[in-house]
Amino acid sequence: MMDEVRKPRLTEVVAMKALLDEASAAGQVLPRQLPELYENVRDFHVYADDSGVGGLVALHIDMVDLAEVRSLVVRPDLRGRGIGQRLVEAVLAEASDLHIARVYAFTRMPAFFNTLGFAVVDRAELPYKVYKDCQRCPLYPNCDEIAVARWLDAPKTAEGMEVPT
Ligand SMILES: CC(C)(COP(=O)(O)OP(=O)(O)OC[C@H]1O[C@@H](n2cnc3c(N)ncnc32)[C@H](O)[C@@H]1OP(=O)(O)O)[C@@H](O)C(=O)NCCC(=O)NCCS
Repeated sequence: MMDEVRKPRLTEVVAMKALLDEASAAGQVLPRQLPELYENVRDFHVYADDSGVGGLVALHIDMVDLAEVRSLVVRPDLRGRGIGQRLVEAVLAEASDLHIARVYAFTRMPAFFNTLGFAVVDRAELPYKVYKDCQRCPLYPNCDEIAVARWLDAPKTAEGMEVPT
C-alpha cells in the first residue's frame, strides 16, 4: 500500500476539511472554513494512502521565533499506528528548515506530545499573541487544554523578540 506524509494537493482540501469537521464537531480541534484552508494550505501536511487523505496537521507561524502545531487529526480508523507521530515529525522538520526556534500546541493529549519531545509549559509563558484564536473557540473562556512546547535546534532570538508591525 502506498502511504506518505507530504504537502497537500489543492484537490485534497475538501477531504482535509471533512476530517477537520468531524474532529471539530467532537470538540477536538477548532473548526476551519474552506476559504481559510485554501489561504493557509501551505501550513499543512497530510497523510495520504490508497484511500485518500487520512490525516493532517498544520504549522502556523506566529512570529519570528514561534509557531503553533494545530489542526492535527488522524482519521479514527487509522489511529494508533504512528501516523499522528509522523505528521508532527514532518512539521518539526519543516519548522527546523525555517529556523523556527520554538513550536507549541494546545492539547488535551499532552502524553502524545510528550513522546515527541514537547514539555508541558505554563501558558502564561507563551506570548499573548498566541491566544488570538481563543475568542472564537467554543470553549472560551473555560478552556481545558494544556500548553506544550518544544525548542528546536535553530538560531534563537532574544527572549520575547517580535517582528515590528
Ligand atoms: C491525536 C491524534 C492525532 C493521534 O494520532 P495517532 O495516529 O493515533 O497517534 P500515534 O499512533 O502516532 O501515537 C503516537 C504516540 O502517542 C501515543 N498516543 C496516541 N494517542 C494518545 C492519547 N490520546 N493519549 C496519550 N498518548 C497517546 C501513542 O501511544 C504513541 O506512543 P508510542 O509510540 O509510545 O506508542 C489522534 O488521536 C486524533 O486525530 N485525535 C482527534 C483529534 C485531536 O484530538 N487532535 C488534537 C490533538 S492537539
